[in-house]
Amino acid sequence: MKRITVIPEPKSLKVLSETAVFALTDNLSFECCDGSENSLKELLSFLREVFSLEPLGMGREKIRLEIDTSIEEEGYLLKVESGRVILRGGSEKGLFYAVQTLKQLLFCTEGELPALEITDAPRYAVRGFMLDCGRYFFTVEAVKQFLDMMALHKLNEFHWHLSEDQGFRCQLEGKLLLTEIGSYRSHTNFNTTPHEGYYTRSQMLDIIDYAHSKYIKVIPEIDSPGHVQAMLAAYPELACFPRDFDVSTSWGVRHDVFCVGKESTLTFMKELFDELTEIFTDGVIHLGGDEVPTLRWKACPDCQRLMKEKGMKDESDLHTYYLDTMAEHLRKKGFEVRMWNDRVKENMTDRSLTWQLWNDAMKDGEVAAELNGGRKFVLSCARWCYLNFPYAEASLEKAYSFEFEPEGLTDEGRRNIIGIEGCLWTEFVPDMLTADKMTYPRLAAVSENAWSPRDKKDYGAFTEKLGSYYALLGTLGVRPEALKKTAPKGVKRLAGRLWWQRRQLTWGAYDNFISDIKAKKIK
Ligand code: ACM
Ligand code: ZN
Repeated sequence: MKRITVIPEPKSLKVLSETAVFALTDNLSFECCDGSENSLKELLSFLREVFSLEPLGMGREKIRLEIDTSIEEEGYLLKVESGRVILRGGSEKGLFYAVQTLKQLLFCTEGELPALEITDAPRYAVRGFMLDCGRYFFTVEAVKQFLDMMALHKLNEFHWHLSEDQGFRCQLEGKLLLTEIGSYRSHTNFNTTPHEGYYTRSQMLDIIDYAHSKYIKVIPEIDSPGHVQAMLAAYPELACFPRDFDVSTSWGVRHDVFCVGKESTLTFMKELFDELTEIFTDGVIHLGGDEVPTLRWKACPDCQRLMKEKGMKDESDLHTYYLDTMAEHLRKKGFEVRMWNDRVKENMTDRSLTWQLWNDAMKDGEVAAELNGGRKFVLSCARWCYLNFPYAEASLEKAYSFEFEPEGLTDEGRRNIIGIEGCLWTEFVPDMLTADKMTYPRLAAVSENAWSPRDKKDYGAFTEKLGSYYALLGTLGVRPEALKKTAPKGVKRLAGRLWWQRRQLTWGAYDNFISDIKAKKIK
């Protein structure tokens, strides 16, 4: 018998026979219920792509697709009995996940299944993947391939990072200059090649439809009030000291951020979010809010006036004020609002904003206090969950080991951890080959962290499943990093880490130096 393997590991998987009781044939038939259309389509396209099978639907061997609302919404039951497979989801979504499991079972057994029974449901409600399309643009086809792979890993939130200092990628009819100017940069670091690209409204709607057919929500992020230089290149009046800005051509954190003191900046962004919420209707918007230097705000008369008016203690309150204002606008429209966890300590944002934990600016105890106090968190702790880190910094085993259990966390606090997200930042990921190598196999680790029960997580057992996983990805045209390179040791590890640290030294500081001089002249 071939080894039965599923990633992410299900809650319970029992193999009940030594020999096959069900075999794929081109005579296979299907019994379907209302709501099973997406699941059936997914299964048929897999059978066509991987087994070159176009079932005729007349034979004795049957696959039955059912929905049973007594099962948890995203949960399912999968049974293989003599001559038939039963897929029973708690909803359309649960049924779709049963199909994802069946695809893997069929692949690892070459289509000959023993009797077995699987009951399954996710550990976390939010199981995300973030793609940074600001640093490099990824085509519609590339994004769809990520969505396909998310579905295979039972991930359900695509966090689409659509704006950066280096590029604005989301076409908005009310603010066309954002893409006309902001989606193009003249070069990148030391090269001389321009880079450009954006998604039209219809392309975004197409991607959203595609995601929905795979039960994936799409959460757009327009990062602000920092990381906005591409937006300032299009609309310089949004800055404290308006002048000609280039779309950034190097990595790093820019000093020029939005002027929060000008009411017109807030109006501009509310209008932007109004249009964004017409396109992205899944009920969640990410505000970004990470890495916001306060240098310009200290010198800006408008920002200083607002601080006095509102009795703010220091410039970092402007950061909080901006995010709270945008969040309130979006909440009134019924949206959940997310942001990175950068607003910490005494000037925190409103508790109803969900924070995405990424850096070490907060001590574990502070996170626990926030969770216990009612703030919801998505966990993307960089050293485990960032898929762009070299394997020398975040090996597959390290990514797999991620668990977050800060001291002092109450049961209520634990329930406020709504999920886990793997993030692919793309400063050093210019193409799909690199993206594949960074993302896989670590996305498999993210998926077990987010889906599988804690007591089912076992790194040894996980690695034994990777042979079949690699073969499946290869068949689907995805190119993961070679397994032996996912855990560099000794000199290779050291070299990898030094290389990574060196790559953090960019032209960004030089760019800031020049723009600081220009800003001083205007002051
Ligand atoms: C981040 O990595 N700046 C959220
Ligand atoms: Zn200002």
